[in-house]
Amino acid sequence: MGILYSNKYGPWIIGIAISLGVAIGVVVLALIAASVTTRRAETASIFNNKKVDITGIEARSRIWGENYPREYETWAKTSNMDYKSKYHGNIQQDALGERPDMVILWAGYAFARDYKAPRGHWYTIEDMVNTLRTAAPGVGDQTDLQPATCWSCKSPDVPRMIEQLGATDFYKSPWSSMGPQIVNSVGCADCHDPVSMDLTITRPALREAFQRIGRDVDKATNQEMRSLVCAQCHVEYYFQGDGKYLTFPWDKGFSLEDMEAYYDEHDYKDWVHALSKAPMLKAQHPDWELFLIGPHGQKGLSCADCHMPYVSEGGVKFSNHQLVSPLSDVAGSCQVCHRDSEADLIRLVNDYQDKLLETRNRLEPELAKAHILTKMAIDAGATDDELQPIRNLLRQAQWRWDFGVASHGAPFHAPVETQRILSHGLDKALQAQLALKDVFYAHGMETPTELPDISTKEKAQLFVNMNPEKLKADKQEFMATIVPKWLEEARAAGRI
Ligand code: HEC
Ligand code: HEC
Ligand code: HEC
Ligand code: HEC
Repeated sequence: MGILYSNKYGPWIIGIAISLGVAIGVVVLALIAASVTTRRAETASIFNNKKVDITGIEARSRIWGENYPREYETWAKTSNMDYKSKYHGNIQQDALGERPDMVILWAGYAFARDYKAPRGHWYTIEDMVNTLRTAAPGVGDQTDLQPATCWSCKSPDVPRMIEQLGATDFYKSPWSSMGPQIVNSVGCADCHDPVSMDLTITRPALREAFQRIGRDVDKATNQEMRSLVCAQCHVEYYFQGDGKYLTFPWDKGFSLEDMEAYYDEHDYKDWVHALSKAPMLKAQHPDWELFLIGPHGQKGLSCADCHMPYVSEGGVKFSNHQLVSPLSDVAGSCQVCHRDSEADLIRLVNDYQDKLLETRNRLEPELAKAHILTKMAIDAGATDDELQPIRNLLRQAQWRWDFGVASHGAPFHAPVETQRILSHGLDKALQAQLALKDVFYAHGMETPTELPDISTKEKAQLFVNMNPEKLKADKQEFMATIVPKWLEEARAAGRI
């Protein structure tokens, strides 16, 4: 310090120092400004510097990836199989193997053959082709079990085919006829308009369901769209009439009771139960409907808020497109709003799930038992008139069980509503058992206490007269002979 003031050049040095300071300041400011500009430019380039022009329905996500590498790279991570939370994750698990009671619950329906916990969007085609629920004619004594409607939530090739054929003709085609056409798993063209990149609704079923209740999906806000793109698939639906027209049963509302009233009014059943002969409903996965009722839905959050957290990379902010359990990134998914620790947030989620599973684990075996006892009552000579109210209870109990359980996220998304639904399911399953006691009594019998051994998937499948080994052998033949031809045809046509 002393040097500056004792020196005759002092003021001069001070002058230089000030000038230098200002100059450095200016340079720094200029640098910051430049960096801000490049950041802006980089963000803007997401939209401006397109490498390829995409028009029409481009089902191949890798082509979009040339314009949007960050979103593409995170989307491609839906192929990962490396994460497991307490109850979920991206690893495929054999749900029937873990809970064989479900084989009884779905007896006579394709789900009793095979049901696995979901993996990421990367696998939608592979898993549908692989499951024992689908089959093609020409292999063993298999028939084409499913209509093309089944492809609806699996691929952006679906809107492409619907554009070509019209929705009516698409849905009523046989499932296997679309094998060479539908080859790309859920991707960019399912949710985005290729030119504006705006979120968009590509599935007629959602558009039509909104129209019927007097809502225009094109008027949805951006925040609503961040859920509605998911609601194209993660909802309750059924295949209407002989044309198997994909329909969302929302005309009376979105609650379990509203949809049940809709199905009852349409005299609709998905199948007749192989043991109890009850007219059954298969709930799909009403994730969106239940989410709306829960605390986060009520506060206006959307699916993307937790399942597509923002990521910052080189100053660019973008949405993580690896749709996976939010517990794999609590900081990005939860702590943007909550101050609780990661351990506390995970504990809260697990608490909701544990408590709900207590009810589910009571309901599943009681409902399976009620179906088996009904079969025993039929064998003991019970009449359809006697069994009608019991079959009705079975239909209602199972609709409640499936609605709460098939929506995998519901224990967290809407804990109170899901608990309510499963409690009513348990109540109705036990009411059915009580009513069965009267039926056995009327036929001079004690209610049977010896029940069959259904403790493994294989034992349960044999009990409902299925031959899993034969199904597996047929599936292997199908994978070895027919599927390669589908892929070859699709590749030759440049569709993959
Ligand atoms: C075109 C239909 C479709 C759309 C749109 C869709 N999904 Fe999915 N999703 C599926 C299917 C089918 C699976 C099951 C895939 C499998 O197991 O092969 C799935 C699986 C998942 C899984 C489980 C995967 C895992 O690794 O845990 C999550 C989470 C998920 N979807 C969230 C979402 C969210 C959030 C949205 C909206 C941003 C969305 N999905 C949009 C069809 C769709
Ligand atoms: C299941 C639906 C879904 C799929 C599939 C999907 N996106 Fe997105 N995408 C979204 C949502 C939701 C947002 C957030 C939009 C918002 O906040 O306005 C988004 C945002 C974007 C954005 C805007 C910038 C950003 O990251 O927030 C781009 C670009 C984008 N996606 C590209 C893609 C590309 C490329 C693919 C395919 C590799 C793809 N998306 C697949 C739902 C999807
Ligand atoms: C507030 C955050 C949040 C929002 C918003 C949210 N979820 Fe979830 N979701 C979760 C959590 C937490 C789980 C449980 C994850 C676990 O146990 O690993 C979950 C689970 C899921 C699962 C099951 C995942 C699997 O591997 O089986 C699906 C599917 C799902 N959510 C879809 C959706 C859809 C569709 C929406 C919008 C309608 C949505 N979620 C909105 C937090 C959220
Ligand atoms: C965009 C902000 C936001 C995000 C992201 C978010 N939450 Fe929330 N969360 C809320 C709001 C708002 C409420 C309701 C608070 C209230 O009503 O007091 C809430 C409520 C909750 C509750 C109490 C629910 C109840 O039954 O009342 C839990 C538990 C919770 N959040 C956990 C999570 C977890 C776990 C995640 C990440 C997977 C998450 N939240 C992500 C905003 C968010």
